[in-house]
Amino acid sequence: MYAQSALALVLLAGSATAKVCMNTTVPVDISARTGVFNIAVPQTNLDATTFIQNNTQQGRNFTEVALLDYVTTSGTYNISTQFCMPSANNATSPTVQVLTHGIGFDKTYWDSSYNNFNYSYVDIATDTYKYCTLSYDRLGIGNSSHGEPLNEIQSFLEVAALAELTTMLRNGTFPGFNQTFSKVTHVGHSFGSAQTYSLVNMYPNISDGIVLTGFSMNGSFVGFFGAGADFVQANLNQPFRFGNVDTATVEAVLNMFSLTDLVAGVDPAPGLNYPNGYLTNTNVNANQYLFFLPGYFDPGVLLAGEQTKQPVTIGELLTLGSLPMMNTYAGPVLVLTGCESPYYSVAITNVLTAFVANDLPYCGGNCLATGNASLPSIPAAVAMNFPMVPSINFTAYIQPNSGHGINFHYNATGAYGVINSFLNSKGLMSS
Ligand SMILES: *[C@@H]1O[C@H](CO)[C@@H](O)[C@H](O)[C@H]1NC(C)=O
Ligand SMILES: *[C@@H]1O[C@H](CO)[C@@H](O)[C@H](O)[C@H]1NC(C)=O
Ligand SMILES: *[C@@H]1O[C@H](CO)[C@@H](O)[C@H](O)[C@H]1NC(C)=O
Ligand SMILES: *[C@@H]1O[C@H](CO)[C@@H](O)[C@H](O)[C@H]1NC(C)=O
Ligand SMILES: *[C@@H]1O[C@H](CO)[C@@H](O)[C@H](O)[C@H]1NC(C)=O
Ligand SMILES: *[C@@H]1O[C@H](CO)[C@@H](O)[C@H](O)[C@H]1NC(C)=O
Ligand SMILES: *[C@@H]1O[C@H](CO)[C@@H](O)[C@H](O)[C@H]1NC(C)=O
Ligand SMILES: *[C@@H]1O[C@H](CO)[C@@H](O)[C@H](O)[C@H]1NC(C)=O
Ligand SMILES: *[C@@H]1O[C@H](CO)[C@@H](O)[C@H](O)[C@H]1NC(C)=O
Ligand SMILES: *[C@@H]1O[C@H](CO)[C@@H](O)[C@H](O)[C@H]1NC(C)=O
Ligand SMILES: *[C@@H]1O[C@H](CO)[C@@H](O)[C@H](O)[C@H]1NC(C)=O
Ligand SMILES: *[C@@H]1O[C@H](CO)[C@@H](O)[C@H](O)[C@H]1NC(C)=O
Repeated sequence: MYAQSALALVLLAGSATAKVCMNTTVPVDISARTGVFNIAVPQTNLDATTFIQNNTQQGRNFTEVALLDYVTTSGTYNISTQFCMPSANNATSPTVQVLTHGIGFDKTYWDSSYNNFNYSYVDIATDTYKYCTLSYDRLGIGNSSHGEPLNEIQSFLEVAALAELTTMLRNGTFPGFNQTFSKVTHVGHSFGSAQTYSLVNMYPNISDGIVLTGFSMNGSFVGFFGAGADFVQANLNQPFRFGNVDTATVEAVLNMFSLTDLVAGVDPAPGLNYPNGYLTNTNVNANQYLFFLPGYFDPGVLLAGEQTKQPVTIGELLTLGSLPMMNTYAGPVLVLTGCESPYYSVAITNVLTAFVANDLPYCGGNCLATGNASLPSIPAAVAMNFPMVPSINFTAYIQPNSGHGINFHYNATGAYGVINSFLNSKGLMSS
């Protein structure tokens, strides 16, 4: 199984014109500290809304309220991956970018087939910039193993899966080809950025450079996301794709939901069969509110996004904000943008936060409204969370004319250029 070289893969695939990809389901043995939450898994749409009401009440941290204990969760899980390389792949030391999607999407966030892959990040990273990419469905989502939605499928177990995939790439045990990567970078979107942030905090040497798109460390606006989604049970919202339907279910939901959602994915046979506690945004309008900036996207992309959307577990919603601040120092702190601290000894070499001017969940719709003349943007403040990164290696960038779902806006390829040029500028290109 491990005998193929990357070059042999090119020959086997026989493609001359575009990126060459391999889909592999990778078993990972992982464990992580997970929270034990003392609430019932929502069983109905009323319960789903109750959960969001609980979770968006101002003045309290519902994660804290619901948290009973921590335990170690271990298991072997399948992760559904897609590895891609440039069609002309003659690098002797290729660099791989590990791509982690956010809430509402799966690995196709990075490689949408819409308009003949015109929005594909993977196409640009491979064929224009000569990187390899590994995109994957996060644990719990899409074609990766699903799990219990409250106390199992949580952020830190997913980070453990990301770490395992990365180690396999580095040490040559990624199934399907015999290739070690000495240069591995990580690119995230939204919750995928949060997991990338946690990954490099736990394993500071695991990444040669990270890109956090659709991200900031400001949690003030995450309630807009929870509320704006109008979350409902995934298996009722798109019963063909997300459920395991019988005729009675269809008749029951026919009276409740818009046809757009109901008939999505009606043709392929098996539905994804998510249990209760996997929630999804109600409809295309909620999707627009969360991810799209009016005037700067093709409505067809929005519709395609709604038809291929993915859910989120309540366990993820309860743990997505549990990010280490990097700062274990307990004494007095003066906060200045871009300040550096002498108290850390392990460097993260490269960080790019590519964020967007009108991001909803991380900027409340305006990344420049900081209320602080010395802070140019909300994401620029992330520099403070990376005290070991010299300012020359930290960039905060505003992608203009884009909402949170950067990859689905007209100018997505503009953002892709910024990301890949950043990695190139740090000497991380394939060689
Ligand atoms: C993988 O590649 C290494 C180095 O080229 C070689 O020594 C090893 O035998 C290969 N392993 C397999 C299973 O082909
Ligand atoms: C690989 O997976 C993608 C989804 O990520 C799918 O569109 C494509 O058809 C798959 N390719 C093969 C050869 O199965
Ligand atoms: C909402 O919170 C209350 C406690 O504040 C709790 O008893 C109840 O189980 C929670 N329900 C959901 C669905 O989160
Ligand atoms: C992983 O996939 C294999 C092959 O499809 C299957 O036999 C196994 O049960 C799956 N494991 C999990 C944990 O889903
Ligand atoms: C790889 O191929 C490109 C395009 O054919 C060529 O310009 C480059 O010199 C080659 N690099 C190596 C290391 O062979
Ligand atoms: C593809 O995207 C470019 C901009 O990135 C745009 O100019 C062009 O019209 C798009 N083509 C199609 C077929 O969508
Ligand atoms: C999941 O698997 C199905 C069936 O093989 C395939 O059609 C679909 O493209 C896959 N989706 C992803 C995101 O990998
Ligand atoms: C490579 O990494 C995987 C994942 O952590 C691990 O299971 C395996 O033992 C490692 N193998 C080698 C040869 O280092
Ligand atoms: C990380 O890399 C640095 C520099 O190469 C090395 O000194 C350090 O021991 C490494 N840390 C770990 C935990 O591997
Ligand atoms: C909420 O509580 C959890 C659990 O204690 C903690 O990890 C998280 O950082 C808290 N969030 C905020 C915004 O304080
Ligand atoms: C597209 O994105 C690039 C990179 O951020 C930027 O330089 C350019 O001005 C953008 N174009 C438009 C029309 O927004
Ligand atoms: C910035 O990152 C590059 C690439 O990892 C590294 O070579 C360089 O030493 C870093 N600069 C500083 C000042 O640490």
